[in-house]
Amino acid sequence: GGSGVYRAEEARIARGTIDTNHAGFSGIGFVNLARAEGSYAEWTVPSGAASAAALDLAYANGTGADRPMDVTVNGVLAAVGHAFPPTGGWDTWSTTSLPISLKAGANTVRVTSTTADGGPNLDRITV
Ligand code: GCU
Repeated sequence: GGSGVYRAEEARIARGTIDTNHAGFSGIGFVNLARAEGSYAEWTVPSGAASAAALDLAYANGTGADRPMDVTVNGVLAAVGHAFPPTGGWDTWSTTSLPISLKAGANTVRVTSTTADGGPNLDRITV
């Protein structure tokens, strides 16, 4: 696996913005996905070899409800409706993790909103 941090500002975003209006993020901003099913953020994650890895996602969810997301790696589902439970506020960040499989070379890691509420705010992923 890799050992890298990939920040909001490095993401490819479909329906969303890089915002700075809630404290506690790293780098220059966080991803605020549109409140729509299908909004997503995607990163390219290089790996020297095919391997198992842990995907850690740093996020904030200031609502009282889960903001589930599908997670794909190279277009293959790694998690369906992975939970992003409330963190207590939009400036309170937490981490959720799941196992993924990487191939040698460039991997595409995508998280996609599965409900009309969209996803949580995303600060970074660590692989
Ligand atoms: C608020 C908050 C945003 C967040 C949004 C949401 O508008 O300021 O940062 O993304 O709620 O519900 O997704």
